[in-house]
Amino acid sequence: MNDRIVVTHYKSIGSKRIGIRLALISDLHNCVWDELIPLLKEEKPDAILCAGDILERHDENISEWTEEKIEKVISSVGKATLSEKIMYVLDKLVGRGGKATDEIEDIAKEFLQEASKVAPLFYSVGNHEWYFLEEDYEFFHTCGITLLDNEDCEAIIAGHSLRIGGLSTRYNFDWLKDFGEKTGYKILLCHHPEYYRKVICNKNYDTFDLIVSGHYHGGQCRIFGRAVYVPRTGLFVKGAVGQFGRHIISAGVANTTRFPRLGNPRELVMIEI
Ligand SMILES: [Fe+2]
Repeated sequence: MNDRIVVTHYKSIGSKRIGIRLALISDLHNCVWDELIPLLKEEKPDAILCAGDILERHDENISEWTEEKIEKVISSVGKATLSEKIMYVLDKLVGRGGKATDEIEDIAKEFLQEASKVAPLFYSVGNHEWYFLEEDYEFFHTCGITLLDNEDCEAIIAGHSLRIGGLSTRYNFDWLKDFGEKTGYKILLCHHPEYYRKVICNKNYDTFDLIVSGHYHGGQCRIFGRAVYVPRTGLFVKGAVGQFGRHIISAGVANTTRFPRLGNPRELVMIEI
């Protein structure tokens, strides 16, 4: 089985053309990243968007958050379908569930450090990042990484002014609404595709020029383009990966379950806007 990372290119996204190349990386989950840096260097992005679940920060002994609280937050976004409820139970059986922070080496930080040397890096928060440690904030600051935890910033990328915001798993839709009402070219990093589809899409503040997500891991196996299984989401999920108008969903750059990916390579996404 070929487990190499593929590079997927999307061109001319959105109605405005500004001539910037963005790399989208999601769901590293603190896994091996050796291939990624050479690929990034080859692609020469103007900026790197990390759409969540890069580090692993979900230790109940450290965080005020618990798995139960996080699941509640996620399931409060739209109504869970029957398939989603069934899969939640199945996922408990097949998923690795993640290891506590103190059990694993923080190799994702080395990736972030190397990637931040390639291009300015913007990082939003996923469901495996319940919290950050003081040393993490110091690390982001030292590397010049912009953490977007329910916040947005003005970024000058290749001489163009953009607004980039990150909606966290621990969402704040009040902030998001304010962000949507701001002017200029706006990019939303939104780890959960369903947050966009179920809550944000078609609202009057859905003025984002580009929305990028991850989380679904492309569907663990894909047959005839359909995602057979999306961890924590469902069976035969439509639209688990790819471009849906202004919304681009990455298959992620790692595999975290006990099953191999089938017909679903790990991917680095390149977006031209
Ligand atoms: Fe996730």
